[in-house]
Amino acid sequence: MSVSPSAPVMRVAPSILSADFGRLSEAIDQVSSGTDWLHVDVMDGHFVPNVSIGPPVVKSLRPYSERFFDCHLMMSEPVRYLEAFKDAGANGCTVHVEVGGTATLIDEARSLGLRIGLAANPDTPFAAVAPFLGDIDLLLLMTVFPGFGGQSFIGDVMGKVNEARREVDSNELALDIEVDGGIDVATAPIVVEAGANVLVAGSAVFSRPDPLEAAHALRVAARSGRA
Ligand code: DX5
Ligand code: ZN
Repeated sequence: MSVSPSAPVMRVAPSILSADFGRLSEAIDQVSSGTDWLHVDVMDGHFVPNVSIGPPVVKSLRPYSERFFDCHLMMSEPVRYLEAFKDAGANGCTVHVEVGGTATLIDEARSLGLRIGLAANPDTPFAAVAPFLGDIDLLLLMTVFPGFGGQSFIGDVMGKVNEARREVDSNELALDIEVDGGIDVATAPIVVEAGANVLVAGSAVFSRPDPLEAAHALRVAARSGRA
């Protein structure tokens, strides 16, 4: 896939969850020149207590953007929808380890030609994702409990980010470490310092008067966290 990165390229992935859903293609356009990934938050009202968007919206947005669509599936039964996301134009899908059946999900994503990510909630231990690190493209360590944008960053997750970075580097794995939740110019250097290289940001981008400028500011802040 042409947009696939080789880790650890530093990326800011604006989450369209915080954009105006009535003007999504405009929101994407606004940040396009400043980012090569877009984070798409999919909520099923079951795994998380909120409902957002699904494959039809991804399909509608696809013609408006050549960016990498990083789809975060906060769903209890992601296996039922991977093909629909692929057909809609998703580049990568991230599933939560808490829903189980991880090995099957990875196989299914691979057979569809999707990049596959594995997500862990703030209170899920590193040991739950560790056995899969060699088989995935991205590890998403949530820095809030998923379900809503605009929540406060949970700094305690940094120990887990650190652990993941050590494991990835010592095994020379080509794996992105993504963080999601409460990322802004103040927390970006902290997560980068801990070892993250993909920073998802919703409200810190789309709730700002100038989202492109905000995405740029995040990238600059992230750089300052690099050792
Ligand atoms: C939370 C979502 C996040 C959310 C982040 O459940 O997975 O991607 O959009 O929003 P902020 O950046 O506002 O915390
Ligand atoms: Zn997300």
